[in-house]
Amino acid sequence: MTVQEAIANRRSIRKFTDQPVTRELLLELIEAARLSPSGCNSQPWRFRLVTDHTDIEWLGGPATAGQRWVGKAGAVIVCCVDTSAYLCDSRATIRALREAGLMTPEFAQDVDESYLKPAESGPPGLLRGAASLNLAIAISAMMLRAVELGLGTTWIGRLEEKLIQERLGLPEGLGVAALLAVGHPAEDPAPRPRKPLDEILV
Ligand SMILES: Cc1cc2nc3c(=O)[nH]c(=O)nc-3n(C[C@H](O)[C@H](O)[C@H](O)COP(=O)(O)O)c2cc1C
Repeated sequence: MTVQEAIANRRSIRKFTDQPVTRELLLELIEAARLSPSGCNSQPWRFRLVTDHTDIEWLGGPATAGQRWVGKAGAVIVCCVDTSAYLCDSRATIRALREAGLMTPEFAQDVDESYLKPAESGPPGLLRGAASLNLAIAISAMMLRAVELGLGTTWIGRLEEKLIQERLGLPEGLGVAALLAVGHPAEDPAPRPRKPLDEILV
């Protein structure tokens, strides 16, 4: 399968068979996330694999505003941003990029002054937004890799963060930005409508 085919064939899948999703397959998705690019190579993403049926069923309740179909997924990947480690990790990876000759000292200094420091002293939402942008790339990679592996996924943005953090006992400092429902597809939906090219080329 080519990347183009994976992009064209991907759909949000909300009906799954009862076939469990093996840990091996889930780790293939995490590997796709792990290899994704991120600003300053900061990699602010963290993931919790939820495979326990009771927890999955629970996620289909108030935690996702009653999106019952989530409860029938084979697994759910809780996609988090680590805003507490983000700046420290960014500074470390900037050093590594500098040492590898991929960033000039001037550029590294500027990234710190005009990107990291404002994020550090700005509202918490700024850091979370930047980390979430990076996480989105990793989630996209997982969704495309899933197509190649014959799995279906749906990105779930409608969620109750506090409920999920408490139920799953997630470490302090992790923000839940999205859930990725994963399973063996029990539906083959037609492509969903998209805006025409002339509307998105500005
Ligand atoms: C940021 C984001 C949040 C989303 N949140 C939800 C959600 O909470 N529930 C849901 O059923 N689908 C959700 N979706 C899936 C979209 O509805 C879906 O991608 C869109 O309708 C296009 O359909 P397609 O993915 O099949 O091409 C979300 C997608 C994205 C990218």
